[in-house]
Amino acid sequence: MPFETALTKALGIRVPVVQGGMQWVGYAEMASAVSNAGGLGILTSLTQPTPADLRKEIQKTRRMTSKPFGVNLTVLPTLSPPPYGEYAQVIIDEGIKIVETAGLVKDYVAKFKAAGCTVLHKCTTIRHSLSAVKMGVDFISIDGFECAGHVGEHDIPNFVLLNRAKEQLRKPNGDPVPYIASGGMANGSSLAAALSLGACGINMGTRFMATVEAPIHHNIKQSIVNATEDDTDLLMRRWTNTARFFRNTVTQAAAKVEKESTSGKFEEIADYVFLNGDPDYGVWTAGICIGLIHDIPTCDELLKRIETEARDAVMEQASLFKEDSKAKL
Ligand SMILES: Cc1cc2nc3c(=O)[nH]c(=O)nc-3n(C[C@H](O)[C@H](O)[C@H](O)COP(=O)(O)O)c2cc1C
Repeated sequence: MPFETALTKALGIRVPVVQGGMQWVGYAEMASAVSNAGGLGILTSLTQPTPADLRKEIQKTRRMTSKPFGVNLTVLPTLSPPPYGEYAQVIIDEGIKIVETAGLVKDYVAKFKAAGCTVLHKCTTIRHSLSAVKMGVDFISIDGFECAGHVGEHDIPNFVLLNRAKEQLRKPNGDPVPYIASGGMANGSSLAAALSLGACGINMGTRFMATVEAPIHHNIKQSIVNATEDDTDLLMRRWTNTARFFRNTVTQAAAKVEKESTSGKFEEIADYVFLNGDPDYGVWTAGICIGLIHDIPTCDELLKRIETEARDAVMEQASLFKEDSKAKL
């Protein structure tokens, strides 16, 4: 018997699990595999070199799945911004109805809503979540400090952040805003815990990198399996742009420069941080849930397992409550 939550109902998916946008991972192969397995797969716009390539990738994904999938648009401050507006227009013109947004996306959210899209927006704080609710997004994806990528500057993990979301996230009319637990989610216990904390589902990035269908090198997948929860480094805090990376020789060298630089110029570590992909020579982002990842299943195996584990955990919790217990009170 599947879970039915605000997320599964709004998106038309079976399992309340979203595969978050992932730069250099969120291609058609990844998104379609997750959607075919019953979750929500998401393409990452900026992984495509041009808006025209994004259009082709959306069309390719449609050939690979008939299930719902979404597209991520992440807008970050950068010296040479990509044509964000053109990427957003392709998403709308292609008839995409589920969009995941992150960063400075106010103008684009208005466009997506006008086009009838359901918008899932990533936030690492309650304050930003409340601003996003004012922008009109439909779901908040709460990214706890455990997450891969940009963790924000407040370092609040999900045990508190999700509880705070439950307390605070309200629409102007007082109705609760549905939210998704993101960051540190890797298995059925994560899903059961997230539901207990009031979330309507989970969003996973790192866990999906270690799947058969993830379009990345096998060595990266195996590095995740071999790692423990101690194997990430935070970089760029000095420039209030903190991101979490898989620990390797490059992140450790970059961390040393960040700590010891007397000039404090970002340029001094830029070359380290913006190398991509190779486990030995570049840096790549991963969350601390690497400590919970012990195999490389297909997306279908993974989502079935998460569904079963979460159901068992929820049932076990329910069995702890004895209605007419002769409890020694
Ligand atoms: C390799 C990688 C690349 C990512 N790139 C993006 C991105 O471009 N935009 C975005 O909103 N989130 C990005 N994320 C964050 C994920 O969508 C998700 O929020 C995060 O991975 C959740 O934490 P977890 O890794 O602990 O599951 C990325 C994550 C990973 C692992």
